[in-house]
Amino acid sequence: MGLLSRKATCNSHGQDSSYFLGWEEYEKNPYDEVDNPNGIIQMGLAENQLSFDLVESWLDKNPDVPGFKRDGKSIFRELALFQDYHGLPSFKKSLVDFMAQIRGNKVTFDPNHIVLTAGATSANETLIFCLAEEGEAFLLPTPYYPGFDRDLKWRTGVEIVPIQCTSLNKFRITESALEQAYQDARKRNLRVKGVLVTNPSNPLGTTLSRAEFNLLFDFIKDKETMHLISDEIYSGTVFSSPRFVSVMEILKEMNPTDAAKFWNRVHIVYSLSKDLGLPGFRVGAIYSENDAVVAAATKMSSFGLVSSQTQYLLSAMLGDNKFTNKYMCENQKRLKRRQRMLLTGLQKAGINCLKSNAGLFCWVDMRHLLSSNTFEAEMELWKKIVYQVRLNISPGSSCHCTEPGWFRVCFANMSQDTLNLAMKRFKNFVAHSTGSHGTSSSSSSSSSTLRNSSFSNWVFRLSSRHHRAPEER
Ligand SMILES: Cc1ncc(COP(=O)(O)O)c(C=O)c1O
Repeated sequence: MGLLSRKATCNSHGQDSSYFLGWEEYEKNPYDEVDNPNGIIQMGLAENQLSFDLVESWLDKNPDVPGFKRDGKSIFRELALFQDYHGLPSFKKSLVDFMAQIRGNKVTFDPNHIVLTAGATSANETLIFCLAEEGEAFLLPTPYYPGFDRDLKWRTGVEIVPIQCTSLNKFRITESALEQAYQDARKRNLRVKGVLVTNPSNPLGTTLSRAEFNLLFDFIKDKETMHLISDEIYSGTVFSSPRFVSVMEILKEMNPTDAAKFWNRVHIVYSLSKDLGLPGFRVGAIYSENDAVVAAATKMSSFGLVSSQTQYLLSAMLGDNKFTNKYMCENQKRLKRRQRMLLTGLQKAGINCLKSNAGLFCWVDMRHLLSSNTFEAEMELWKKIVYQVRLNISPGSSCHCTEPGWFRVCFANMSQDTLNLAMKRFKNFVAHSTGSHGTSSSSSSSSSTLRNSSFSNWVFRLSSRHHRAPEER
């Protein structure tokens, strides 16, 4: 018998994934323009820091709100005592209106069907607790957000079975991949309780197509205990076409007889961590038309409520339509510009990305830089990029991608100058590791290009923090 519980000591949390290890390495040697210019640049964190000025300007213009005042009078006591885990009605209303606005008001949401949670992390876990028993499974298309191993599996004991998507069709969900995942689960004696998709996808930065939705609905249609969860945390980040289509829009467009089969089984997860860039505020939500799910999730939400002062502040901010309109437009423009910068910078280094239209990251193809077509080679390349090039990016294997050589690279959590420096580092790295400038040689070449001696001539040595890398001299 151990001192701690099995849950506390088991490793299904996934904290030893390279996704989290990269963060740890970054923490030990973080880049700072002045204090540590040779440090690691964090490109493994999907944060949106591009539009803080807009939020700050709103706060400046509305000082009563952060000052816990209403019409000039303090409401401190009211906020200090508020403990209803159903949430502030005014906040729930502002939040559902904001969600509708992001979806072009093509759908509306009923505030009575929303459950507030401490971020999407808590929303996803709570939903899984509501929908599945320990030992049952959810199917997830790969590559998927590395945090799902923690959020969906760890405490619930529910399993994730991957729907293997590949670069052959740009990582789209196919009928055969869906069927294969279902068969894989059955072989493992796992009862499948549903499918969870992220729309737009983390890490792909792409939106789900209507064709993919049709496949998913066909798949669950006659399987009456199966659910479809759509994590739409990046819904407000869609910056170019095709436009974002929410699962709710698809349901609404269906003929009512078909839709009736699904209303009780479709659930949305949302959060303000990405669209508003507020992961520290811990504001998430579950939206479901299923009353039993809403009731159960509301009871469970007492373990991860949103504080009343946060709700008060955000109900005022999101209730200001002029602000939210301006914010959404401007934020999407900025994201688009940033994504372009990353694409152009990587192209100059001879690196291509999956075509994307959303998110805070690109799905980057570095297969040609691998010394062999293996995950060991992917790790070898990743370590070089973290320790020598000093960029923390996330290897595809941490997202359960089935093909080695893909990486998620974030672009919205740093300044433009820092992104430019990161692009320089990439370019130098590729140039020196391939012996050419930007056009890289074949991965399968036996004279492993990454072991090229010219590479070691310029790389920053792991141990010497204060040594200057050539491109920064
Ligand atoms: C797809 C997805 N779901 C959920 C989360 C967790 O978000 P939150 O900060 O709201 O808990 C993230 C965070 O990166 C995410 O990418």
